[in-house]
Amino acid sequence: MSQRSSDRQSFTDIQQLQAAELRSLIDAARKFLRPGSSVQYRNTLRGEAIVLAFAEPSTRTRFSFELAAKRLGADVVNFNPLHSSQKKGETLIDTFHTFAAMGSRLFVVRHAQEGIMAKLVNHLPDSCRLVSAGEGCRSHPTQGLLDILTILNHRNNLENLAVAIVGDIVHSRVARSTLNALHLLGVKDIRLVGPKCFLPIEDNDVPGIPTSDLRDGLSHADVVIALRIQRERIKGSEIPDMNDYRKRYGLNRQQLEKYTASGSLLLHPGPVNWGVELDPELINWDRSLIREQVRNGVAVRMAVLSWLMGAHDEVN
Ligand code: CP
Repeated sequence: MSQRSSDRQSFTDIQQLQAAELRSLIDAARKFLRPGSSVQYRNTLRGEAIVLAFAEPSTRTRFSFELAAKRLGADVVNFNPLHSSQKKGETLIDTFHTFAAMGSRLFVVRHAQEGIMAKLVNHLPDSCRLVSAGEGCRSHPTQGLLDILTILNHRNNLENLAVAIVGDIVHSRVARSTLNALHLLGVKDIRLVGPKCFLPIEDNDVPGIPTSDLRDGLSHADVVIALRIQRERIKGSEIPDMNDYRKRYGLNRQQLEKYTASGSLLLHPGPVNWGVELDPELINWDRSLIREQVRNGVAVRMAVLSWLMGAHDEVN
């Protein structure tokens, strides 16, 4: 096993990356997509114990981190705050120190509270690393990476693409991370599409031109990223009437084929509310990459775990 040193203690936001680092993570993830890679790399993190601490529901992110860690040979501990000593008053920081005392050096955390990642990074033992699996509306950096990997599997160059992101952008951590990644890699034509209440008009962290006109937003777009309405982060009166929303912003195949660029790609981070933001027939559309995104999620998380544990050189 080669060196374990890393100058990075955390990966909590796409904005902490340089373009070259992002590209290097995507290249590493590509290696993990190759058949047989889980055999080739299974000793990379042997002996490590990785803690998955998800304080919000998850299917894709949690299980793909677990699979990624196991494919690299690590042991995985699933920590559920609801069934832990947090119920007896222990803080999250104390909890992580407790796991660190048992030998864990890497924590994967999903949490609703914005600012929690920075706080954890500041209070973790020096030997430990943290990766965000989603922080409030702020960031979901591994989702941003897997969206980029998915697009790059179908397009050689991102810079000249027109990308439309449609739906509840203002409450979406995925939107922030994916759009920041696209921006970092030089994508200039980014459209933010949705009703006014879902557009991040005053948020400088979200690159793109906002519009509430769906046809305008989709016009000749090469990539369309649809988003779910994130009810869990919305205060009651901000939710639009569902029938009206579906009619104005729900996407179907006919519309995508008519307005977007020839051969355009459709992504959605999941979970999808079929019949709301997407017509159910789109799951079988040959330009829908929703299942591929999930598959790429495991490879991206293998790349991120290797990088944070200082095993990046073993992959590259
Ligand atoms: N895309 C995503 O974060 O999905 P999960 O909530 O299922 O992890």
